Amino acid sequence: MSFKIGIVQNNPRFLKARANVSAALALMDSIEADLWVLPELFASGYNFKTKKEAARCAERAPGGPLCALLKAWTASRNCAVVAGLPERSGRRLYNSAVLVQGAEVALYRKTHLFGNEKKFFSPGNTGFWTRPVKGVRVGVMICFDWFFPESCRTLALKGAQIVAHAANLVLPWGPEGMKIRSLENRIYSATANRIGSERGLRFIGQSQVVAPNGSLMVRLGESEVRAAVVEADPWTAKDKKVHKANDLFKDRRPACYA
Ligand code: ACM
Repeated sequence: MSFKIGIVQNNPRFLKARANVSAALALMDSIEADLWVLPELFASGYNFKTKKEAARCAERAPGGPLCALLKAWTASRNCAVVAGLPERSGRRLYNSAVLVQGAEVALYRKTHLFGNEKKFFSPGNTGFWTRPVKGVRVGVMICFDWFFPESCRTLALKGAQIVAHAANLVLPWGPEGMKIRSLENRIYSATANRIGSERGLRFIGQSQVVAPNGSLMVRLGESEVRAAVVEADPWTAKDKKVHKANDLFKDRRPACYA
């Protein structure tokens, strides 16, 4: 079965959410995909100085305007979208991502906060979950989560065939590291990153999709703004065998890891 995975690599203007949403949707407009992945904080920008500044562009999820827009957009295109946003919940802010497919919205809050994020976002409390998209199980993680192998492993153990990785990567190791995350879990990973700079912080682009055997299906450049789609066969992600005698999940020894 063919399943189209799309990634969007954008260059948002800091705090210009409306214009950034329009620009991202325009990149996806004429291309068909079953699942789209947009970057972390794709519409607000990333490099906030204070909680007050982050709060100004934070919104509720699923009750806020971005989710409303994505519900309508995905319903009209019969697809799903994963998108990162600053989420407001009471007095707290979370660095979150939503998986939206028509009326359904699932919320993930970033587990492993990076750098200054700790000053204004609360650590995520949703845990890692998977949801079906057209019969394919999809899990979500955000940027720095990749550095913790437990994130992808937990998603894979929960049945994820595709990990949607909404990112704003600044350290150099993410794109190559995600090849290993795909390989060791035998899953597709779709990393959507941004480009450009904000207040001296440079984002490295290189958004990509990796197959369960660790091979690159597509990787964008460090300064390209564009969307790309690959045809995946997510059923291959159910096969955890790497040798006739070795199934990576059946051969695990959890008792030895305690
Ligand atoms: C990051 O987690 N945005 C580096």
